[in-house]
Amino acid sequence: MKLTPTVPGARLLGLGSAQPDKIVTNDDLAATMDTNDQWIRERVGIQERRVADEKTLLVDMAVEAGTRALKDAGLEPSDVDTVILATCTMPTPIPNGAAQVADRIGIRAPAAFDLNAACAGFCYGVGTAADLVRAGSSKNVLVIGAEKLSDWVDWTDRSTAIIFADGAGAAVVGPAADEASVGIGPVAWGSAGDLAPVIHIKDDNAKLFQEGQAVFRWATTKIAPVALRAIELAGLTPADIDVLVPHQANLRIIEAVAKKLRKEGAREDLRVADDIVHSGNTSSASIPLALDHMRADGRVRSGDTVLLVGFGAGLSYAGQVVIFP
Ligand code: COA
Repeated sequence: MKLTPTVPGARLLGLGSAQPDKIVTNDDLAATMDTNDQWIRERVGIQERRVADEKTLLVDMAVEAGTRALKDAGLEPSDVDTVILATCTMPTPIPNGAAQVADRIGIRAPAAFDLNAACAGFCYGVGTAADLVRAGSSKNVLVIGAEKLSDWVDWTDRSTAIIFADGAGAAVVGPAADEASVGIGPVAWGSAGDLAPVIHIKDDNAKLFQEGQAVFRWATTKIAPVALRAIELAGLTPADIDVLVPHQANLRIIEAVAKKLRKEGAREDLRVADDIVHSGNTSSASIPLALDHMRADGRVRSGDTVLLVGFGAGLSYAGQVVIFP
């Protein structure tokens, strides 16, 4: 009988991302609704975002990001036995996206499921994947966060249209050979279902609605403690963190979380993701997109200790410390 964990833990093996080509600037939005570039930059931090065309499906972006992550990990599709697609914007609930994405990448007969924890989805996915690997249920897990929020945004509603965008990011989670190479800490996660109405899809037009100020208040007070808990679960202190990658919801929320962490001992030179400036809020894709872009510009490097923390509709939240591959 082999009922005990088979490997000491899990680690990230590779990363990849994909975004649509089309850039929508704040001025583009101001041409069709009552908003302006200065307000959006000051209140949200976004300068531009990527929006997919009608023909591009969520699974197309997920396939692209997933394929890149596998290549980055140096793995073949046949090495993967589990695919988790974190998403909240599939066009229909059936069939799920994960099995289609796996099939198109060439991963044969994997365990494949969609995971809806909205903007916390990628961190929920990495946490789930790490535990599957550690328990011996999976060997290599492809975790993809992919969203086509543009399908669910009312493009005449300035309270949501200025914020949300499209994209996908992916990571491969695999086994760590020994204790020293474990690279994913325990996940700190939870939810606040009593606040579910503050972000929901409306019955009348099937479009996203949010109570912006309520979400803002919640995120700026409740998320830093989740991040601190993730650090504690990893057996670290805030000073050990090199890079902070919060969900890219609003630059002011990101800065508030970073400020609280610094108050608790995080370093002044902590590198903080600000991918929202050019990518907008891509929900479950925002954290892996930010990581991939920070790697590209040298702000995150192999061996860095990185704190991820996602939060959003549900309300749901999750965070963990990872070692960048
Ligand atoms: N463009 C220009 N002006 C706008 C505007 C827009 N898109 N939206 C609101 N305004 C105006 C309002 O009419 C109001 O004007 P007034 O002071 O003359 O009445 C003023 O700006 C402030 O409005 P308010 O709704 O208080 O804005 P805010 O500072 O709370 O910013 C959000 C709105 C949505 C950007 C902000 O609340 C937010 O980011 N919340 C979090 C949302 C989020 O992160 N969601 C995703 C979670 S995963």
